[in-house]
Amino acid sequence: MIQNKIEVAKDVYLIGKIDDRDVPFHRLVLTKGTTYNSYFIDSELPTVIDTVDMSFGREYVEELKKHLDPATIKYIVINHVEPDHSGSLPALASQAKNAVIVCTELAADELKKMYRLYDRDFLIVTDGDTLDIGGKTLKFYETPYLHTEETMITFCEEDKILFSCDIFSTHIANTEYFNDAVKDNIKEDYILYYQLIMHPHRRHIKEMLGKICKLEIQMIAPAHGFILRKNVQEYIDLYEEMSRESEVERKATIIYSSMTGNTKKLSKQLKANLELDSIQVDLLDLNNTDENIIIRSVQESDLLLIGASTKYADMTGKTEEIIKKIVELDLQGKVCGAFGSYGWSGEGIEVLQDYLLKSNMNILTTSEIIKTTGVNDVQFPLRIRFHPEDETARVIERTTNYISGILLNAS
Ligand code: FEO
Repeated sequence: MIQNKIEVAKDVYLIGKIDDRDVPFHRLVLTKGTTYNSYFIDSELPTVIDTVDMSFGREYVEELKKHLDPATIKYIVINHVEPDHSGSLPALASQAKNAVIVCTELAADELKKMYRLYDRDFLIVTDGDTLDIGGKTLKFYETPYLHTEETMITFCEEDKILFSCDIFSTHIANTEYFNDAVKDNIKEDYILYYQLIMHPHRRHIKEMLGKICKLEIQMIAPAHGFILRKNVQEYIDLYEEMSRESEVERKATIIYSSMTGNTKKLSKQLKANLELDSIQVDLLDLNNTDENIIIRSVQESDLLLIGASTKYADMTGKTEEIIKKIVELDLQGKVCGAFGSYGWSGEGIEVLQDYLLKSNMNILTTSEIIKTTGVNDVQFPLRIRFHPEDETARVIERTTNYISGILLNAS
C-alpha cells in the first residue's frame, strides 16, 4: 500500500496501492505496473472517492483505518464499477457501516448485484448534482462509455480537483505520485493509456470535454498513475486532440431484402442514424435494384451493411445471388456488417454472416468488438426480433454510433 497518506490539498489525501507487478490487463501485460488511487476527504462529513483493486481490500482498509475511523465515513463515491476501483468496496463498506454509497443509477444497480449490497443506502447522482460534504462541495458529471456505461467523474469545487477515475490516468507504478515530481516525461505513458483504454470510446470524449470545459480545474486526481497538477490543460487538450474526428467525407451502402417490411424498417433506422453523423448513405432494396448499381455503390463506400430477413431458415429474395458476387470483389479496407429482423431463429442473418466472413472486408462481429474494445452492448450481426421499436432503438443507436465512430476516425 501507499505508506502514509499523501496530502493532495488541504484535508484531501491519496491512499491506495502501488502494483509493481506485471499486471494482466485486457489481454495485455502492463510491464510498468499501475497504481490504484483512492482518495479521502477529511471534511465534516468524511468522504472516500473510489477504492482499490479487489485483491488488496483488507490491507487497503487497514491502511485507511490509520487515518480515519471507518465508522465516521459518511459517503463513499464510486465513479466506476470495474473491480480495480470498486473491488474493495465490500471490505470498506463492512466497516464503514454508516456510509452512503454515491454513484450513478446504473452503477448502483451493478454494485448491488456484484457485491450483494442490497441493504446499503445509495445516493444516485446525475449530471450537475452537488453534494455538500461539510466544508467542501462535490459536483458530479456522468461520463458514459469512458470507458464503461455507468461511469462518472467528481469535481471538488473548493479545491478545483477533478477526480476522474480511469479518465486522464496513466498505467505506471510510481512513488512520486505527482506529474511535477517525476523527472521523466510521462506523456508517452499517458498517450499509450489513452490509446489502450479510451480511444475505442473516443466519440464520448467530446461529450465529456464539453461537460468539464467550464470548470476551473487546477488538478486532476485520477485512479491510476500520476496526479496531474502541472500543465493540467495540456493533458486535457491531448485528449481533445487524440479523439478528434476525421473530416473526410464517408459513404455507406445499405442493401436489404425484407419479407414483411421489418428489415426494411431497420434499414431505414440505420440510415437515419448514420446520416446524423453526416455519413452519406445509399439505401437499396436488393430485390428491386439493378445489380450493377448495387456493386458500384458498394465499391464507392467505406461501409457496407447488408440486411436479410429469414424464411425457411435461410436468407430471402435475391440476397444469396448478390452476396456471392460481393464476396468475390476485392473490397479490402471496407467495413461490413450484417443485420436483419427475424421472428423465430433468424438463421438467414447467420447464413449471411457466414458468407461475409469469406470476403476480405473488415467484418464486424460481436466477439471481436468485445475483445478489442470491451464494448458489450453493440452486436454484429445485428439481430432484431420482430419490430425495430422502442426497446431495440437503443441497441440500434449504440450500434450505429459504434460504426460511425469507426468510419469517422479512420485515416
Ligand atoms: Fe481502471 Fe476501468 O478500470
